[in-house]
Amino acid sequence: MPPILTDDIRQAYLDFFRSKGHAIIPGAPLVPENDPTVLFTTAGMHPLVPYLMGEKHPAGTRLANVQRCVRTQDIDEVGDASHLTMFEMLGNWSLGDYFKEGAIQMSFEFLTKVLELPVEKLAVTCFEGDTDAPKDEDSAGIWKAAGIPEERIGFLPKAKNWWGPAGQTGPCGPDTEMFYWMGKSKLPPAGSNPANDEANWLEIWNDVFMQYGKKEDGTFEPLAQQNVDTGMGLERVAAVMQAPSVTTDGAGRITVYETDRMKPILDAVSSIADQKDVAMRHPRIIVDHIKASVFIIADGVKPSNVDQGYVLRRLIRRAIRSARQLRIEHDGTFSPGIARAVIAQYAHAYPHLKAREQEILSALQTEEQQFVKALQEGMKQFERATAGAGSQIDGTTAFHLYDTYGFPLELTREMAAEQGMTVDEPAFRKAFEEHQKLSRAGAEARFKGGLADNSAETTKLHTATHLLDAALREVLGDHVYQKGSNITAERLRFDFSHEEKMTPEQIAEVERLVNEAIRADLPIAYHVTTVEGAKKEGAIGVFDERYGSEVKVYVVGEGKNVFSREICGGPHVARTGMLGSLKIQKEESSSAGVRRIKAVVAGGPAEIEVATEMENGK
Ligand code: SER
Repeated sequence: MPPILTDDIRQAYLDFFRSKGHAIIPGAPLVPENDPTVLFTTAGMHPLVPYLMGEKHPAGTRLANVQRCVRTQDIDEVGDASHLTMFEMLGNWSLGDYFKEGAIQMSFEFLTKVLELPVEKLAVTCFEGDTDAPKDEDSAGIWKAAGIPEERIGFLPKAKNWWGPAGQTGPCGPDTEMFYWMGKSKLPPAGSNPANDEANWLEIWNDVFMQYGKKEDGTFEPLAQQNVDTGMGLERVAAVMQAPSVTTDGAGRITVYETDRMKPILDAVSSIADQKDVAMRHPRIIVDHIKASVFIIADGVKPSNVDQGYVLRRLIRRAIRSARQLRIEHDGTFSPGIARAVIAQYAHAYPHLKAREQEILSALQTEEQQFVKALQEGMKQFERATAGAGSQIDGTTAFHLYDTYGFPLELTREMAAEQGMTVDEPAFRKAFEEHQKLSRAGAEARFKGGLADNSAETTKLHTATHLLDAALREVLGDHVYQKGSNITAERLRFDFSHEEKMTPEQIAEVERLVNEAIRADLPIAYHVTTVEGAKKEGAIGVFDERYGSEVKVYVVGEGKNVFSREICGGPHVARTGMLGSLKIQKEESSSAGVRRIKAVVAGGPAEIEVATEMENGK
């Protein structure tokens, strides 16, 4: 009997390669220990790079293992029958030991003798050759000799049949990939193979012949040793093995989500969904994303706005977004509930999931609660932004939704698509990079213990302070007066007269008003007048002798659209859009009857224009 269940396939693979002289090594954590160029372990070869490059591995020249992997490149395809961001890879390696012949023969034997897959339903692809490496006739010949007919052997270019490096540089080479027939007919028609009929074939295994090293200049050099790196998708093989017994679409196929370890998680989602999704896309996204999140948190990552933490946050938030589509309650219990179902299926194979269960559940709960709050505000903002927009959401709006409301780009993209709109993604990315540059610049400035006044950053924050002042008066009332202000390159700090702690709703509303003014890209200019004149026109500010008899009044907006009018020495930015967006980070007590807000801006341009005197003096 061939192995059918996921656990049995995993075990059969390790047993088979052990019998072929391979040492079984443990899988590595999802966060690579020695490679800052990639966020996650994306393949079993990843932790083995030094050994593929020639270093001696303590366990020998033949290795095999099971590696948990996270790949976000495929995130948009998650929800179809076979794509996952988190999956288990079964892998075997030769470190300068066997090469093409040994690897292909063992792959063929495992597929046809251990899994007992009918050879009539198998097909392979090989590298077609280019200026970097020749056509892989060797592999094709070995497959033919093993029993794969010529019509089932396709040749494809580098984009398809070349693997690696995992990061920017390192070991890589041509590969040969193995596929299983997934078409409607019982057997593939004559001449069909994955090179000419891709949609009907499911890739299940990849043998990579790592004999090149990619250099920083993009060229390839032969490695000291010829290696083999293989990877088989456990969930996909399980779908193949379990298909005959669990038929869902009439053709005897099942998706990876219906395999024995994934199905109970899918059922956990369906059991709490109030809305059916016939295509099953949203339930599958939830299963994949929460499973990935569980494994990522278990390997020590917490949701955040950078690096692995950002990917994690994005996964959790996308899962919640799908939960909303299915009308699943999401008040902090949804993602921990699904996580429990994940842990129940995988803890026996990955005991660290059980050991870290509390940590996993509470990280998910916190993130879910935080996101839901932001989501409510962001939805309103999104509707406002799309109401007036044409067919595209601009980068600033998309970044604003990301930065202020925590909307991952995918979420904005999906919501836009539902309205028949697209997102200006290059502009979003630009804003995002700008924001990262700013935080770095800010951190550096803080490190050095100061920063020249009137830099772009302090100028932006100064203007933001005016907007904040006006918005606070709008939301809390006219008793609000500035009691103090302190600006660094990193943040503004604004003290104002108000008795009570602000409610989260009030804070959100102030933030919303300021960001609305920013998005409206209002012009800013000043005029010079007397203190009396300033009072008469309704300017706010400190009416004392500080400015002499003549004062500058900075006006944000024009005509009927004046947002703020304030006595001030300046300087300020020329348009509110230059602020990018504002985020209130803290609201706390400063002293009796005085509250203190700390806020940051991000996403505006690095270079700014400063506001000048009004043309007509008014
Ligand atoms: N590294 C190869 C892949 O990921 C084989 O494991 O496909």
